[in-house]
Amino acid sequence: MTETKTAKRRHLLRRFNSWLQSKLPERVDPTRYNQLIRETYDGPAGWFTLITGYLTGHEPLAKRLIGPKGFDIRGCKSILDAGTGNGRYLRIVKRQADPDAVVVGCDLSLGMLRRARKRLKNSPTLLVQADVNRLPYPNECFDAIIFGWVLEHLPNPLVGLRELARVLRRGGKMLLMTTEDNTLGAITSRVYHCRAVDRAQLREWCRQAGLLWHRELWWSRFHRALRLGGILVELRRAPRDEENNHGP
Ligand SMILES: C[S@@+](CC[C@H](N)C(=O)[O-])C[C@H]1O[C@@H](n2cnc3c(N)ncnc32)[C@H](O)[C@@H]1O
Repeated sequence: MTETKTAKRRHLLRRFNSWLQSKLPERVDPTRYNQLIRETYDGPAGWFTLITGYLTGHEPLAKRLIGPKGFDIRGCKSILDAGTGNGRYLRIVKRQADPDAVVVGCDLSLGMLRRARKRLKNSPTLLVQADVNRLPYPNECFDAIIFGWVLEHLPNPLVGLRELARVLRRGGKMLLMTTEDNTLGAITSRVYHCRAVDRAQLREWCRQAGLLWHRELWWSRFHRALRLGGILVELRRAPRDEENNHGP
């Protein structure tokens, strides 16, 4: 009886979250949607990301997430921060990476790249304006990719994941962070005109893109216990023989 009640409550909450979520990514034409996202981040919403990292605690916690005990980039000689935004993760990557590693940040929004440039002024970094759906890089040229809070802004997430898998070398690693489809995620999706992602759906997209679900990460034990803080997952690009087994 209690189990039925709990299941019913969960079902109602899921329906509420789905109603609350922004519908823009599905409703707007992909080209127009990309333009809207670029304008959003060029403007005040982009500036706001300079403080949201401190409000959510992600800014200080990111130093633990990218490191020997979390997403370990030691030994990686080419690293891409796809959708680098204001350079929050790029700054940490530059500190953690091997001294001879090439580190690149790309973003759709010039406004965000300018913010990243300011933040990284003491550490010259390659910053490129590029769309993660069509990257200006050859196949298999990166050993590691950071892809933080960008997937939810893509008109078609599978297209973006396939493109990132293309530029990642086989066996290479990716840290994917994205907004989850809970109530907080649905509110975020409203503010940033993006989607909120279902964990099982994300797993399936990764499988289709040839990215293996290596392990889930959490900001802290507190986040893990309450299942808060979004979806954080370390992925690996599948070796050739495993990739052939993936469906459409
Ligand atoms: C929420 S911010 C995250 C920035 C950064 N990764 C971080 O976590 O601090 C999302 C960023 O993704 C960028 N973005 C959105 N769609 C993109 C696309 N198709 N290609 C490249 N960047 C994109 C936006 O311009 C914005 O800077």
